[in-house]
Amino acid sequence: MATAMLRRALPRASALSQYTRAQAHASVAEAQQVEQKVRASTSLKTFSIYRWTPENPTKPELQDYEIDLKDCGPMVLDALIKIKNEVDPTLTFRRSCREGICGSCAMNIDGCNGLACLTKIESGSSASTITPLPHMFVIKDLVVDMTNFYNQYKSIEPWLKRKNPPETKGKEVLQSKKDRAKLDGMYECILCACCSTSCPSYWWNPESYLGPAALLHANRWISDSRDEYTQERLDAINDEFKLYRCHTILNCARACPKGLNPGKQIAHIKGLQLSGPSNV
Ligand code: SF4
Ligand code: SF4
Ligand code: FES
Repeated sequence: MATAMLRRALPRASALSQYTRAQAHASVAEAQQVEQKVRASTSLKTFSIYRWTPENPTKPELQDYEIDLKDCGPMVLDALIKIKNEVDPTLTFRRSCREGICGSCAMNIDGCNGLACLTKIESGSSASTITPLPHMFVIKDLVVDMTNFYNQYKSIEPWLKRKNPPETKGKEVLQSKKDRAKLDGMYECILCACCSTSCPSYWWNPESYLGPAALLHANRWISDSRDEYTQERLDAINDEFKLYRCHTILNCARACPKGLNPGKQIAHIKGLQLSGPSNV
């Protein structure tokens, strides 16, 4: 009796599973149709973003976020702000001016250092990977510790130093247009650190080599006709590590979002070390 019941039950169970499978196929097809419709009406892009927090210091990981580019500004920073505002408020990054002036949104975008606010989202490619500036200690997510970088900048004494008062007491120290032009290509630096953190020499000697950004600023003051400490400035950096770790690979120039060429400025300093400060 029990066997008969089992026999009767079998075909019913098989029909049920066929029905369930058909239903499942139908729902997969429906889901695919819905997804196709959604994709046609949106423009989805995945951002894989580096995540790490000291509150849970496990291994860092890349977290994926999908953003509709039709509902987002054109720059990578727009996507980051959208994710933070609408998806995940714990995502941490620096930004301020949103127009390439403050230098705070520097990060590595798809393998290249750059400013998130000046980097356009690539709509064609599949996913974008965003990580912190390379070879820097991470404080949280995309925020890196800039202490060493700023200390190196401070070490080159980035301010006008005079031995004599201005010709006219209480007035500015004047400069010719020609002398002012010597500062072009240096004064524009926003200290974003994209150059230093793309420099292999800086990766291996981050504490002893000053790096392209600090050396560009050293040259900015060495080249300033109003500054009267040119020789002292040259002496202060005439060091095997501080200056001569630069091997003119020029990664720095490729990375600079302001189109500057720190490698060229470093070469100028090296030239002055040989020829003397009168050749500024
Ligand atoms: S040119 Fe000098 S500072 Fe620039 S990346 Fe190369 S080694 Fe670094
Ligand atoms: S030289 Fe360019 S990349 Fe380097 S800190 Fe200045 S602005 Fe940034
Ligand atoms: S937010 Fe200021 S440079 Fe990008």
